[in-house]
Amino acid sequence: MNNNTEFKRHRRLRSSNSMRAMVRETHLHVEDFIYPMFVVEGSNVKNEVPSMPGVYQVSMDLLLDEVKEVVELGIKSIILFGVPNEKDEVGTGAFIETGIVQEATRLIKRAYPEILIVADTCLCEYTSHGHCGVIHDHDVDNDESLQLLARTAVSQAEAGADIIAPSNMMDGFVKVIRQALDEAGFTNIPIMSYAVKYASAFYGPFRDAADSTPQFGDRKTYQMDPANRLEALREAESDVVEGADFLIVKPALSYLDIVRDVRNHFNLPVVAYNVSGEYSMVKAAALNGWIDEKSLVMEKLTSMKRAGADLIITYFAKDVAKWLKEEN
Ligand code: PBG
Ligand code: ZN
Repeated sequence: MNNNTEFKRHRRLRSSNSMRAMVRETHLHVEDFIYPMFVVEGSNVKNEVPSMPGVYQVSMDLLLDEVKEVVELGIKSIILFGVPNEKDEVGTGAFIETGIVQEATRLIKRAYPEILIVADTCLCEYTSHGHCGVIHDHDVDNDESLQLLARTAVSQAEAGADIIAPSNMMDGFVKVIRQALDEAGFTNIPIMSYAVKYASAFYGPFRDAADSTPQFGDRKTYQMDPANRLEALREAESDVVEGADFLIVKPALSYLDIVRDVRNHFNLPVVAYNVSGEYSMVKAAALNGWIDEKSLVMEKLTSMKRAGADLIITYFAKDVAKWLKEEN
């Protein structure tokens, strides 16, 4: 009919699997993923987190089996969270040499020296009140908390952590941690800063998994207001100036505009944290048969990379690694 069409035939580039693969702009690789793990005290514990089907709290004696699975799937990196039995006002368990993350790090590194261990540097899993720093007058004391966070980071590096990931949202945490690491001789250990972390309802299931729900109040005086976009650039800017090596944006899915902003404004690897609530929602719908889990997860993770993320921290890492293998 019309040889001189006045419209574009976009469908030409969608005509087959091979054609679509040829023009695809965004790809997922197993190297993009960091898998979170929860380590508990005791032995022979493998507790499924009720709100996170498929995610477990694992005791030290069973940990290496879990890590073996991760390594065999080709995943290059894990992030460790500790769930201690004992908590106190200042979160001592976070920075002692025998802390749960420190012990787990030494154990894993001995068995699998090549896996990259990211240590989450915060106090909330270790404080009796569940806040990410020391409490004075019912609020978190910024500067006093910094000293404890710096000690935590150094003890994690001493245990063999490859990357320090401070998630506490105190002002100046990158500066103080960088200084402490350098003074302790860890000039080569990078900081993956939770630079842009919103006060989000999407963390609910994580707080079950890590037993870190604040006992009073909330985290709104230190985590960011979800309504703010320009503030994210200020947060990221100060972390860059203070010496961050990676920038995390968290949560991911409702904040892809922020991922794009951070990617466009800064020249550091950007990490999207696909958080617990984002995982649980998909799992719940999948278990009900309401959605196609694999397609949906691949679509979500692809959208995070399309938005500008270089790396993704996700509880789906093992599933994705399996799916990517099936495709090849
Ligand atoms: C704590 C911390 C949180 C997460 C990682 N580290 C949550 C919080 O602020 O309570 C969230 C992870 C997730 O929801 O998957 N500093
Ligand atoms: Zn915290």
